[in-house]
Amino acid sequence: MKSFLTISLFVIIGLITAVLVGFRENLFAENIPYDAEQEGLNQQIIIKFSHVVAENTPKGLAALKFASIVKEKSGGQIEVQVFPNGMLYSESQGIDALRNGDIQMIAPAFSNLSLLIPQWLAMDLPYAFPNQKAVEEAFNGEIGAELFRTLESRNMKGLAFWSNGFKQMTNNRNPLISPEDFKQLNFRIMPSEVIAAQFRLLGARSTPLAFNEVYRSLLTGTVDGQENTISNIYTKRLYQTQNYMTLSNHGYLGYVVIINKPFWEGLPKQAQRIIRQAMEETTAWMNDQAVKMNQEQLELIRHSSDIKIDELDAAEREQWIKALEPVYRQFAPIIGEPLTSRIQSLRKKYIESAD
Ligand code: SIN
Repeated sequence: MKSFLTISLFVIIGLITAVLVGFRENLFAENIPYDAEQEGLNQQIIIKFSHVVAENTPKGLAALKFASIVKEKSGGQIEVQVFPNGMLYSESQGIDALRNGDIQMIAPAFSNLSLLIPQWLAMDLPYAFPNQKAVEEAFNGEIGAELFRTLESRNMKGLAFWSNGFKQMTNNRNPLISPEDFKQLNFRIMPSEVIAAQFRLLGARSTPLAFNEVYRSLLTGTVDGQENTISNIYTKRLYQTQNYMTLSNHGYLGYVVIINKPFWEGLPKQAQRIIRQAMEETTAWMNDQAVKMNQEQLELIRHSSDIKIDELDAAEREQWIKALEPVYRQFAPIIGEPLTSRIQSLRKKYIESAD
């Protein structure tokens, strides 16, 4: 009897040791330090990540890269399921679904948040960012921190800002060189009051439409034009429906990567750490990738279509900036004076340093 008990004890200790060693090895695979709270990771965690663009865009690729890094770092314990092309939800439905906890992650363009949280209109102000460095300073500084804070009371937690790039104008009727050239045109826009005001100031109309409807609306002439980044214009084949494109860099299209807040807070600390590390790596990669893709795809558009491409010179750009300046005064009370002033100071800093 005594020897039976001794053998049983050895077997039990052996089994426990094997399980613990195996589990630790799995977690150490990616140099993640051991932490007592990691035990929660032996249950699989599923994260549904919905977005509206194609898989071969900066955001589409970044979402896949993020999923793959998370899988690798967690040894498969955390699975990020990516749903591209609006296959689950349109932009606005996605925000509701995330807040309700039906999905766990989204990466909407800033404009799409502005209906719910007007401060996000700040990122749509025309010519707010003279260059990519200014954009990154906004993302990583007080402007980004203030915008992240607006998410917290709405069941959302901001994890990162992802770049896409500067927006360009396209249309079917005439080249857009001076503000007068916009008269009577109808542009598809994202749902943003600032963008609607921008087109009003140019004498044009605008129609908010979901991204998935843009190609068809341009093709059928429901709208005459639209504004977007080169990668969206290329991957959604919008350029094939348009006769003219102006490289205006008049606005910025970026994304905020958001996770459902209660879901985030319920994750084991180790899972949070893995997600944060994966997000940091993905963001650095994405910000590089977006600039490259926009450059390469502009050349692809040039060589594979008859679209006429104009680039604004300094004097022409000054005319656009002047025509659009009233948007700042109009929206400062809605966005909030401090945030509007921060954007204006950043803009001044980069215009003055011409860097
Ligand atoms: C996106 O890049 O997520 C969509 C942009 C748009 O709606 O134009």
